[in-house]
Amino acid sequence: MSRPRRSVLYVPASNERALAKIATLSCDAVILDLEDAVAPSEKPAARERLAAFMKSRTERDDETEIAIRINPLSGEWGAEDLKLAGALEPDAILLPKVDTPRDMLEVGDALDEASVPHSVKLWAMIETPRALLNIGAIAELGRDAASRLACLVAGSNDIAKETGIRTGPDRRYLIPLLLQIVVAARAGGLAALDGVVNDFRDGERLARECAEAAAIGFDGKTLIHPGQIAAANEAFTPSKDMLDDARAIVAAFARPENTGKGVIALSGRMIERLHLAEAETLLAKAAMIEGRDE
Ligand code: COA
Ligand code: MG
Repeated sequence: MSRPRRSVLYVPASNERALAKIATLSCDAVILDLEDAVAPSEKPAARERLAAFMKSRTERDDETEIAIRINPLSGEWGAEDLKLAGALEPDAILLPKVDTPRDMLEVGDALDEASVPHSVKLWAMIETPRALLNIGAIAELGRDAASRLACLVAGSNDIAKETGIRTGPDRRYLIPLLLQIVVAARAGGLAALDGVVNDFRDGERLARECAEAAAIGFDGKTLIHPGQIAAANEAFTPSKDMLDDARAIVAAFARPENTGKGVIALSGRMIERLHLAEAETLLAKAAMIEGRDE
């Protein structure tokens, strides 16, 4: 099972104070951003700060997964960003404005050519109308480990900008697209991360969106501010009730009279072997999270 990605914080690579703060934060992952959070005039300085940050990391810092978001390869900064990101060997490189599977394959080829190890995965921003239409083909790349694709990240601000869908305060018209991202991710064996809440002082909205994202099936939520981390960690950690239920299902199937059965009754509920598998997955996830939070 992959690592927890409940809380994934964007950190502008141009912001030295924000980079310095990472070591003190309890997010599962960070996305060091060279793209939207960095003004054009700041791009070269952001690259330098990013390189210095990556080189200063110690072993203890390894607990936080690191993705680097580069600029699109079609623009003037992307190629140099990719070269640098590959050389820094983060856990993942996040490609923005993906339109087609080819966009991912091109990046993968460039990394292979530069002999970047396959421990460096690719994540894809799903934020353009074309990506939303090509989502099945993009996610299918996840079935081939050579593609490096490991995670789909919903880019809600760009989706709103490109489609005209209004995203707030409720996400009614965005939800169908988010559901598609999750289904595609599962089809490709990928992780899926929800988009951000821009109003970082609005705790109620964040809690609502995190609960919604967890119910939709996302692994976690992308965040823009340290104050958002605790809520995401809580929402994507299996609750005590869910764990109690999972343990009851495992215990029920373990009883001698049930060993050969495909379906049993538990407190008036039909339980099949697929529920057993689901319960075991949930317990494994909880154990992984507990290891992380220790
Ligand atoms: N990552 C790490 N640290 C962050 C942070 C982030 N995303 N956002 C804020 N901080 C730090 C600040 O540097 C500050 O640290 P300090 O106490 O050492 O000075 C502290 O948290 C409190 O920040 P605050 O004053 O509340 O916010 P701000 O006004 O400095 O920043 C934003 C607000 C929105 C500009 C900032 O949170 C940000 O840049 N977020 C990420 C934006 C981004 O990456 N967008 C692209 C993807 S959608
Ligand atoms: Mg974007």
